[in-house]
Amino acid sequence: MDRIRIRGGRRLTGTIRIAGAKNAALPLMAAGLLTDETLELRNLPLLSDIDTLSNLLVQHGVTLTMRSVNEEDGHRSRVFGLTTPDITSTTAPYDLVRKMRASVLVLGPLVARCGFAKVSLPGGCAIGTRPVDLHLKGLQAMGAEIELESGYVLARAPQGLQGGEVVFPFVSVGATENLLMAAALAKGETRLVNAAREPEVTDLARCLTAMGAQIEGAGTDVITVQGVDRLRGAAHDVIADRIEAGTYAMAVAASRGEVELIGARTDSMTTVFDHMAEAGVRIAQTERGVAVSADWVRGVDVMTEPFPGFPTDLQAQIMAMLATADGASMVTETIFENRFMHVPELMRMGANINLHGRSAMVRGSQDLTGAEVMATDLRASVSLVIAALAAKGDTVVNRVYHLDRGYERLEEKLAACGADIERVSS
Ligand code: UD1
Repeated sequence: MDRIRIRGGRRLTGTIRIAGAKNAALPLMAAGLLTDETLELRNLPLLSDIDTLSNLLVQHGVTLTMRSVNEEDGHRSRVFGLTTPDITSTTAPYDLVRKMRASVLVLGPLVARCGFAKVSLPGGCAIGTRPVDLHLKGLQAMGAEIELESGYVLARAPQGLQGGEVVFPFVSVGATENLLMAAALAKGETRLVNAAREPEVTDLARCLTAMGAQIEGAGTDVITVQGVDRLRGAAHDVIADRIEAGTYAMAVAASRGEVELIGARTDSMTTVFDHMAEAGVRIAQTERGVAVSADWVRGVDVMTEPFPGFPTDLQAQIMAMLATADGASMVTETIFENRFMHVPELMRMGANINLHGRSAMVRGSQDLTGAEVMATDLRASVSLVIAALAAKGDTVVNRVYHLDRGYERLEEKLAACGADIERVSS
């Protein structure tokens, strides 16, 4: 199993290109199931989660093609073609779904197109129980019959899905995306109330609209969809990954460096950058992206919330940055019940953190030290990389496969900015 070794204490300087957003790419790929024509997705990131979903889609009957194109600035990006003349299997098996919870995003498209789907329940995961009840209740409100059998969800709508009103009791990104895709091919009007406003949901709505869907209100908390009989192919550019951009911004700040994040945008990251600016980090929009620099960092309080609030997917990373700050910070997690697994590992590197339920009190210091660490999920793992960049001595991060799920060429991007980092195969 690969490990990453980091010798800390070097300032990051230079440029980092931000990849396409993983969390936008996954639902967009699932949307390929909704049409028999080709959906072309440009700027797809090179990640193991994309491979996992590709494997699932292929067994549903999707033909995948991949080509590289030269962008204006000479950078090469990947274009994926997804073509599904027929759905050859309506079953998403446990072996593929358990690897990645986002696999459940095939449920809405399969029922919408075929009137039937059998999708394995994703089960628990490291950051909490994460049920899919909102996805299922939403489909029921659209006329689907739902049964649970031997760990599988069976969803039936033999006459097709009907429009309906779905009121979410709290915000769910995945449920909003699943139901948006289902509603695109349902008969009549669907209203999604208290819908997620995340930029990845808006990106999906933009792509579905290009495919012929009739959607209003994406980006607000009420989305209205007029169902259509069929969707066509389209070509769509995946938005830049705001979580990857935020991660590198926090790594730069922790190392007191100066880096331009090419392709990043401040508009989808206002809350994140406001918190960083409050902590003393300089953030500026440039022609090519966002420039980040820091000479010092002070403590700030952070609370995760649905968009436009501070994203839970950057909570571990900002905690690592704040562990190097002058002063104390309170970091509160409100989205997932068990998302502090990075805390004991950060403490092994000398971080001073006290947990009180959903909040962590972080007392910053300049005295983090390298250690052998491991983490149980993607964002927790990368928070250890951030701490390691700021720490004295060597850190070895185990279970690198978590990082490969969500960060494209992480060690290359950091090494190009002066980090002493290498992947060690064992
Ligand atoms: C997505 C993101 C993930 C991010 C999360 C919150 C993708 C592929 N993943 O995950 O990186 O951390 O949004 O921004 O885009 N819940 C239920 N019942 C449901 C659905 C969700 O109780 O049916 C709960 C979850 O357990 C969690 C909360 O709702 O506590 C929010 O989850 P949700 O927004 O659905 O997260 P995902 O879509 O799984």
